[in-house]
Amino acid sequence: MSILSLILFACLGLGACGGKGEPIAPTPTSSPELTAGKQVFVAHCGACHSTSPDTVIVGPPLAGIAQRGGGRVDGLDARTYVYTSIMRPGDYLVEGFGDLMPADLAKKLTGEELDSVVAYVLSLK
Ligand code: HEC
Repeated sequence: MSILSLILFACLGLGACGGKGEPIAPTPTSSPELTAGKQVFVAHCGACHSTSPDTVIVGPPLAGIAQRGGGRVDGLDARTYVYTSIMRPGDYLVEGFGDLMPADLAKKLTGEELDSVVAYVLSLK
């Protein structure tokens, strides 16, 4: 038996050569950026912000901020609003909350951490 027919045999016998409706690897439910963002969130935000809609810790829950955030400040879409909330937390205060968000977060986070935590926060439903 030649090498070629051996390979062919293995393919037919084991169905290991693909192309026959084999399951494709499942799409991951969260991208690496969201996974990184979640870690940043847990380390720097989670003490004050809940990710479930009805839970207020020190600050407002952030679930749904992608939908709600665009309406907070004229001219800022949700993404810009979330960046601004982190970079200059005192600029706009959510009604009913004090100016308690740390002002040095922008200095503590790297650019990548900032981007990933914003992506994570915007993904919260
Ligand atoms: C020490 C507590 C504290 C920490 C830590 C904190 N926040 Fe806040 N945050 C607040 C408070 C209080 C408010 C409401 C007052 C205001 O608007 O600044 C707020 C407001 C916000 C808002 C606006 C929410 C809305 O409904 O409009 C966003 C977005 C936000 N924080 C994101 C973050 C992110 C992201 C982090 C972590 C990188 C973080 N916060 C860390 C206390 C905190």
